[in-house]
Amino acid sequence: MTAPAEQDLKQRAVVALTRARERTALLTSCVDDGELTAQHSPLMSPLVWDLAHIGNQEEQWLWRAVGGREALRPEIDPLYDAFEHPRATRPSLPLLPPAEARAYAADVRGRILDVLDGARFDGAGPLVEAAFAFGMIAQHEQQHDETMLITHQLRKGPPALSAPPPPARDSGGPLEREVLVPGGPFTMGTSEEPWALDNERPAHTRIVPSFFIDTVPVTNGSYLAFMADGGYRDERWWHPEGWAQIREHAIEAPLFWRHEGGRWLRRRFGVTEPVAEDEPVLHVSWYEADAYARWAGRRLPTEAEWEKAARHDPATGRSRRYPWGDADPGPVHANLGQRHLGPAAAGSYPGGASPLGVRQLIGDVWEWTASDFLPYPGFRAFPYKEYSEVFFGPAHKVLRGGSFAVDPVACRGTFRNWDLPVRRQIFSGFRTARNAEPV
Ligand code: AVJ
Ligand code: FE
Repeated sequence: MTAPAEQDLKQRAVVALTRARERTALLTSCVDDGELTAQHSPLMSPLVWDLAHIGNQEEQWLWRAVGGREALRPEIDPLYDAFEHPRATRPSLPLLPPAEARAYAADVRGRILDVLDGARFDGAGPLVEAAFAFGMIAQHEQQHDETMLITHQLRKGPPALSAPPPPARDSGGPLEREVLVPGGPFTMGTSEEPWALDNERPAHTRIVPSFFIDTVPVTNGSYLAFMADGGYRDERWWHPEGWAQIREHAIEAPLFWRHEGGRWLRRRFGVTEPVAEDEPVLHVSWYEADAYARWAGRRLPTEAEWEKAARHDPATGRSRRYPWGDADPGPVHANLGQRHLGPAAAGSYPGGASPLGVRQLIGDVWEWTASDFLPYPGFRAFPYKEYSEVFFGPAHKVLRGGSFAVDPVACRGTFRNWDLPVRRQIFSGFRTARNAEPV
């Protein structure tokens, strides 16, 4: 690799790490120390745990593994090991108090910028090739920033965060309800994207028969029709485990909704307002998405269908980085990066449409797919099994596309997220699909 390319990668790494830290600072400075150390939900860590965990992962991978330096705080490693302590038990640990957690993360970061400055990416092994480990750690911090934003959403009390509303939907005519994606092979996953994580690799061919997919995510308005039609009371639509969950917990609407004065309201980051019918539905479980789709006479897209709709360019047969092409995401393409504190109306972002006219595949809401989280053929865990490999199997369903809370560095046409099918506190929505009639 020539020197300018290396300089360019270093610059990208600095920008990505700095951007992540600014967001972490915002999310951990907008509430007081009591709120940082409190547990706002047994599903989540105290915010101060995420803060020090971010610093600890950075120390382990960039200071120790890449930099080859001595551990700074080896005694705290077990506290911040996500596998040693389930989230519900983290508040009872002797965690670093907020000021110490901040100072620790800042100390690590200062050292890391020096490591990066002196790093040679070429011929130094896969961990640093193309600045991978730095990109991985920037993505890790941004993922925890999204997790912290979920904690903020679960937190009771007055709003601590604010942002301008997403842009209004353009006034272009009505969209087709669905588009036909022609059958045939496409390239799924990537072997080229330098900062793609292990589960996105390697690129491989998938044959995907023709199918129809919704042009936009399912809206609150459509979801309300399912509710009004007794969707939550009709066992026919539900996976048995989903039926058991909604009965056990008396679930009758998406999380954070409440019925009052004859209408549905939702609470979002401390603000309660009427449910907006034209917005993508948010905070639904995989079971709710699956039940809605069955009620609608449709189904969730498979993960391969989703990625083909998002990346396959019928004109060239090539898979691209994003629905709109290979350019990095900008504000005309997608609602990403916590620029707004919620999804934009369905049909927004014409600049982010796929060649076939599918919109909002990237950003706005994570989209549940029908698929279990499984390795691609030729998968190799890298650089650690606990990122992806230990989660492979039927327990986790794949989500695609990223939400308004995902930073562009952690969002690509190939990016894979996963969670348990009961989860609803995440920024999850969905779109539906159906088989095309055989011709
Ligand atoms: C990929 C979002 C499921 O938050 O559990 C963060 C990302 N892995 N630290 C998670 C992750 C390790 C992960 N998800
Ligand atoms: Fe983590």
